[in-house]
Parts: sequence; structure tokens; C-alpha cells
Amino acid sequence: MPVHFKPRWALPERTATPEGVFRNRRAFLKTAGIAAGAIAAGPAHANIFDRLLGGDNVPTPDVENDPSAGLYPAPRNEAYQVMRPISDENLVTTYNNFYEFGSHKRIFKAAQKLQIRPWTVTIDGMVEKEQTLDIDTLLRKMSLEERVYRHRCVEAWSMVVPWTGFPMADLVALAKPLSGAKYIRTETFMEPDIASGQRQSWYPWPYVEGLTMEEATNPLAFLVTGAYGAPIEEQNGAPLRMALPWKYGFKSAKSLVRFTFTDERPSSFWMDIAGAEYGFWANVNPEVAHARWSQATEQPLGSDERIPTLLYNGYADEVAGLYADKEGERLYY
Ligand code: MTE
Repeated sequence: MPVHFKPRWALPERTATPEGVFRNRRAFLKTAGIAAGAIAAGPAHANIFDRLLGGDNVPTPDVENDPSAGLYPAPRNEAYQVMRPISDENLVTTYNNFYEFGSHKRIFKAAQKLQIRPWTVTIDGMVEKEQTLDIDTLLRKMSLEERVYRHRCVEAWSMVVPWTGFPMADLVALAKPLSGAKYIRTETFMEPDIASGQRQSWYPWPYVEGLTMEEATNPLAFLVTGAYGAPIEEQNGAPLRMALPWKYGFKSAKSLVRFTFTDERPSSFWMDIAGAEYGFWANVNPEVAHARWSQATEQPLGSDERIPTLLYNGYADEVAGLYADKEGERLYY
């Protein structure tokens, strides 16, 4: 039975302003001539930047303790570029959606509680042989590369991030799915002891998402283990998340523990909450408004401008063919 309440995204556009508040603070800092220096100086000065923002201290990345740190930076795959500036790392790591740690944007400190080692990933369902792999074993089997991708949240903010990871098709190959498998259901960790959001029982935890086998094996579908040339931080979905850049951001589930191959279309976390507003496909389309607000434009993180949103978030050449035979389905929300 779906839970009938509105996610924060369901706010009318004019009231979805945390990003605006953030930007205004940045504008103030710029005026004061401080922000640029703080950002350029990186994590060591991030606390100054954050104190001025009035928030919690920005955590220092715990790269030294991460056994995979030596794998970064990985070579960049120049086939995946974006003709827009890369978003500021300090914004990308401090302005997040991760409902497991709260339904607001400033969860980065709470997310440090997530223990990302040991971490196992289970591949099960319609596969030749079910398996559970330690994340570092999985990483050793994969060839990591960096790709610069757009990311478009349904809340109408966007970012450009240099992710590191491996094609999802490589995980599918490792899984050896049976011929009847049509979908992959992904599941995020479930640890209510450390993730306070998961103690809010009105949400249908764990966070589940799903995609078709054709989508998962499209070359754009990427499994992310790093960002900005280092292991990905907890708040961005360590140690393993998806990047499906042609879809609204909620499809790119974080901190994954399970991939289940199935012949049934999975329902998702947001479909179970508000299925009329959040569907299975959720492909970006500027011409199809969300139930509550327009998707015509977007606000890049850290910018004052609104830019036009592109069909499939700019990736139509790569993915439009996936949907050619799906007319009549709710492809865009
Ligand atoms: N994955 C999980 N497990 N929980 C979440 O709340 N939020 C989604 C997506 N993946 C979410 C998630 C949404 S709405 C967006 S826009 C992106 O993560 C945000 O990713 P970021 O915080 O790295 O920018």
C-alpha cells in the first residue's frame, strides 16, 4: 500500500529554495571576496568556508583509510565530456539528496557514519550463479575510468561531475544473467542504527531502483566508485552508486548492496511513495512538466543562471533508441 505523503521534491517550484538560500550565502561570500579562495584551497580550508555558511564542519575525506585509494585517479575516457564547467567539488560533496540520512540537503556530516568497509555486493535472482563479492574484490575485477557526466535532479538543479567507475555492462557480464532476465532491481544498504532517515517508518526502506537490461547495458550506464579523482565520499553514495545521466537523479541510487536480475519490472522507493508523480522510466524531458513544476530549465549548482534543460539531459543520441518501441508508456516522469 503506497504511503501518501509528498516528498520534499513535491514542493511547488517557487518554494523549492534550499539551493537558492545556499547560493545567496555564496553570493554574500563572493561579495566579501572569501569564497573563491576557500574553494580553491580545497578541503583544508573547507571548514572556514562552511563556518561562514553557518553549517556544520565539512568533513575531511577519509581517503587515507580507503583501501581503494591507490586506484585513483583513473584515466579519463575522453568520449564522455560535457560542454559546461565541472561543478565545484565542495558543493557536490555538501549539497546532497540522501534520504537515508535526512530529507534535507545538509546530510554530509551524518553520512560519515556509514561504514563503507567491509562492504559486500550481492548479485542474485536470474543469474547463472548467485554471488556475493567484497567491494575491493569487485573493484579489482573492473577496469576503472573517469567520465564527466551531467546530473539533473528532478528538483531542477543540476551538476557536472567527473565520476570514476566502470560500465554497468561489465557488472552484467560478471553476473551472467539467464536469458529470461529483463530488469535489474538495485537495493541500497539498510542500517537504521546509523541512518536516521531509515528509522522514519513511513518511508518504504530500503531505497530500491530498477532499470531494464537494455538500459543497464547501454554504454552510458555507469557504476560509480569515485569522484574528482578519489574514492567517492559517503554522502555521494560510497562505495558504489549508479550514474544514469539521461534520467532524473533519483534513479541513480547510492550505496548499493544488491543487484537482482528479474523478469518483473521492479517498483521503486519513489514509485511506492507517490507513483502518480514518480514512475519507472523517469527520463529527462524539458517538455514534460512534473506534476508540480516545470522541467524546462535547471539551475547548475553554484550558479545564478538558469539554463535550458535538454531532452534526455543531452544524451538523446546515445539513449533515445532504447525507447523507440515504448510509445504510450510514461517515459518522462
Ligand atoms: N540514493 C539513495 N539511496 N537515497 C537517496 O535519497 N537520492 C537521489 C539519488 N540517489 C537518493 C539516492 C537523488 S533525488 C539525487 S538528485 C541524487 O542521488 C543526488 O546525488 P548527490 O547527492 O551525489 O548529488
